Amino acid sequence: MLTYIVLLGPPGVGKGTQSKFIANELNLPHISTGDIFRANIKQGNELGKLADSFISKGQLVPDDVTIAMLRERFTQPDCKNGAILDGFPRTPAQADALELLLNSLGGRVNLVLFITAPAESLIERLAGRWTCRAQGHVFHERFNPPKVKGICDIDGSELYQRDDDKAETVLNRIEIYKNQTAPLIQYYTERKLLTEVNGIESIEAVSAEIKSVLKKVLPSG
Ligand code: AP5
Ligand code: MG
Repeated sequence: MLTYIVLLGPPGVGKGTQSKFIANELNLPHISTGDIFRANIKQGNELGKLADSFISKGQLVPDDVTIAMLRERFTQPDCKNGAILDGFPRTPAQADALELLLNSLGGRVNLVLFITAPAESLIERLAGRWTCRAQGHVFHERFNPPKVKGICDIDGSELYQRDDDKAETVLNRIEIYKNQTAPLIQYYTERKLLTEVNGIESIEAVSAEIKSVLKKVLPSG
């Protein structure tokens, strides 16, 4: 059976953190459009240069570019049973494109987990986030510290702070989320696919809540 789960929520709410957990639980790939853009920026290719011109300002990369990138990612063999989608869709146009794409693959969105937390928590989480250079593993200096400061526990690479986690860019990202992405709350509520998850608790408590939602919604979850 094909399974597609979307994680929706504001910047810093824990979409990436919880996607890793779900991907592990369900043995599905974790697809983060933000991570794919950052990998292209690191390579310095044309897509990376284009994406960087938007990401550095906290703006969304245009829909046509993002949709084409996701379509290409879906052709890879690890997507044969579905995927956990983190940060896609982010606009109603992306959600429409996703529906068409999944239809063509014989699947559909099974569940949208909408994670919430107040703005002050988002800002605190992003200000203290450290990301690994090699593979994007994520830590937090207070809430999920690495064993050795500045070094990734998993692959030993250097930890860095994302450019778009600067205070002024974060505020811009939150505004853009409210204006361009929050309409998806209604979009998926109308389709009876949305489940809200309180993201204010600890990482483990949020994972436990998500686990119980998966059990209810997915027959084999
Ligand atoms: P993207 O990389 O997707 O960024 P985002 O949506 O802004 O979300 P973040 O990755 O910042 O936060 P998160 O929710 O994943 O939180 P995390 O788990 O890391 O996108 C970046 C940019 O790329 C966009 O601005 C846009 O320009 C572009 N882009 C991407 N997708 C696009 C699309 N579809 N269309 C157009 N443009 C696109 O957690 C944050 C921190 O908090 C971590 O340190 C973590 O350890 C900690 N933490 C997590 N959960 C908890 C908890 N429960 N308690 C305490 N701490 C916690
Ligand atoms: Mg993320």
